[in-house]
Amino acid sequence: MESHLIAPHGGTLVQRVAAPEAAREWEARAATLPRIILTNREVSDVEMLMMGALSPLTGFMGHTAYRSVLETYHLPDGLPWTVPITLAPREGADDLTEGQDVVLLHEDGRTPLAILHLQEKYPYSKEEEARVVYRTADAAHPGVAAVYEQGEVALAGEITGLRLPPHADFLDYRLTPAQTRAEFARRGWRTVVGFQTRNPVHRAHEYIQKCALEICDGLLLHPLVGATKGDDIPADVRMRCYEVLLENYYPSNRVVLSVNPAAMRYAGPAEAIFHAIVRKNYGCSHFIVGRDHAGVGSYYGTYDAQRFFDKFDAQRLGITPLKFEHTFYCRKCAGMASRKTCAHDASEHVSLSGTRVREMLRRGEIPPGEFSRPEVAAVLIAAMRNGNRT
Ligand code: ADX
Ligand code: MG
Repeated sequence: MESHLIAPHGGTLVQRVAAPEAAREWEARAATLPRIILTNREVSDVEMLMMGALSPLTGFMGHTAYRSVLETYHLPDGLPWTVPITLAPREGADDLTEGQDVVLLHEDGRTPLAILHLQEKYPYSKEEEARVVYRTADAAHPGVAAVYEQGEVALAGEITGLRLPPHADFLDYRLTPAQTRAEFARRGWRTVVGFQTRNPVHRAHEYIQKCALEICDGLLLHPLVGATKGDDIPADVRMRCYEVLLENYYPSNRVVLSVNPAAMRYAGPAEAIFHAIVRKNYGCSHFIVGRDHAGVGSYYGTYDAQRFFDKFDAQRLGITPLKFEHTFYCRKCAGMASRKTCAHDASEHVSLSGTRVREMLRRGEIPPGEFSRPEVAAVLIAAMRNGNRT
């Protein structure tokens, strides 16, 4: 089918999963090769590399690419790229030599996922990475803490995937970039807006998605389901929220719900660009960037992520950010609005923080209809009752 979709980052969708025959050959050799057991964050990266979600990357970054990203927020060939994709395991790196093939095992310690063709080893610059990517060296930042937990030596090289990581959950929603692209093409979409989220959908999310749907052919609702910080709402609960919201409030022919296996970095501006590039690979021409995108605590200003897009060449980035101001329900307007569309006093505005909503849910209180659709609130309350999980 002819596709009118945006090209992947760098022009070609990378596919690093070996054909079954080649995968079997690698597996037969695997017992004789050195091995590294991945963490769940590293499994997310390997999965994304394998299926081209990180196109044009074909493996873990070498020193030149790593330096280029830290010094310029671009790959050596000039393509925008803001979050290093590195493998710095805590154990095992010292015993490896450049030129070796290394088996990357799933966190279960037994399933071989990929072969790393180790090209290069180099010292991993954790604190510099923290300052450049996360804009802070504070170990209390959850993304910085994850960087600091890694080893001291980065292992770089292309990977050959043997199989996508085994998953027990969201099996109906685990579309690869090739699959979302095929689905968009099947639906005849040309413009698709991507929506990143790590929270239950509230009315502000719905509003900005629907504003975007007024001007795009379709919406890819693309919640992140890789590692998140402990007090974020678990992905299975969030998925049920998305399902009831879509069932009750969206035209099904305009929306694709699928999951993004990425781990959350909480890198604010740098992660917003990264999130956009990943969604471009999934076939999105547009990407929503609202208030404090991918932020945590008070590390980033409300619109820093939006402003960061202005530093990149729009052509090279390719995907178009749709920037939304902080939105809320206005009682006078009797609808969702922002400062750009509503002049009423702030006392008319209903806007709750995620923290505040979690507190209400913990007390068994239903968040107001102006904040959350009742079907979504019901899912959240039920999840609270079944194990106090939010
Ligand atoms: S996150 O990855 O950015 O942390 P989150 O679920 O909190 O995910 O937000 C998803 C998207 O909606 C982000 O682009 C965020 O900026 C935007 N957003 C969330 N709440 C609002 C709001 N009240 N007004 C405008 N944009 C919002
Ligand atoms: Mg947020």
